[in-house]
Amino acid sequence: MKHLFTSEEMRPSAKTIFFIKQLAYTYRAFKKNELQGVLCQLGSRTLTNKKNRKTIKMKTIVSPSLLSANFIDLKSDVEMINKSEADWLHMDIMDGVFVPNISFGFPVLEAVAKACTKPLDVHFMILHPEQYIEQTAKTGAMMMNVHYEACTHLHRTIQQIHAAGMKAGVTLNPSTPVSVLEDIICDVDMVLLMSVNPGFGGQKFIENTIQKTARLRKLIKESGSQALIEVDGGVQGETAPRLVKAGVNVLVSGSYVFKSKDPLATIHSLKELEQIED
Ligand code: DX5
Ligand code: ZN
Repeated sequence: MKHLFTSEEMRPSAKTIFFIKQLAYTYRAFKKNELQGVLCQLGSRTLTNKKNRKTIKMKTIVSPSLLSANFIDLKSDVEMINKSEADWLHMDIMDGVFVPNISFGFPVLEAVAKACTKPLDVHFMILHPEQYIEQTAKTGAMMMNVHYEACTHLHRTIQQIHAAGMKAGVTLNPSTPVSVLEDIICDVDMVLLMSVNPGFGGQKFIENTIQKTARLRKLIKESGSQALIEVDGGVQGETAPRLVKAGVNVLVSGSYVFKSKDPLATIHSLKELEQIED
């Protein structure tokens, strides 16, 4: 009998590989009892166990940012993420134009994608992110976040991200109000609120993000959108509980996780924060 994918004509397309990767992520999450992580990915916030009629409180999705990892030994940090309770891995791509810094590009993204067992949450801080949708999808990334301020035709870009088989996130700089999302909120899977000006790790948290989160939560609820709320920048032990209390579903954390003495314990402490119910 001919084995699957051994002959030329049966070689899987990039889309098939992506689909298999997504299935593998879901299977691994179920296997590790991270059912809530999977449901959160799908936009559900609470889960009722029909057998004992208990409502299981959802925990927060944690997405450590690789920007603060040890770049001379990325392998060890990716392995730490693999065995941690982190739900996703956040990867920051910068172009030195949209933001005043350059981080890493596709060679690093592709290498990490091969070694990382967690879904990738990729944050593009670049102009014209639409030029890189196909290339990003080919890495198997789960989520592509693009900046509202960098996209002239945001609706089209979101459609293209979905057509490439990824979840679509729209990111807002600290000075951009939530109200600009009114006409797109039902089309996106996630809104990423920047709680620092994008470009660098280890900056001070901008306090207005707490009120901004509450405004976004209201917009999501009133519009019937299923979008998750993610916050990025200055997320640490003091700000994280307040953000979750305000309605944040996904915490990105770079320096607080990677520079801590015990990154696994730090991730666990963020993971323990329980989601609020509407
Ligand atoms: C900054 C990046 C962040 C950064 C956050 O522009 O988008 O993801 O890594 O770093 P911390 O958590 O250290 O503020
Ligand atoms: Zn980021």
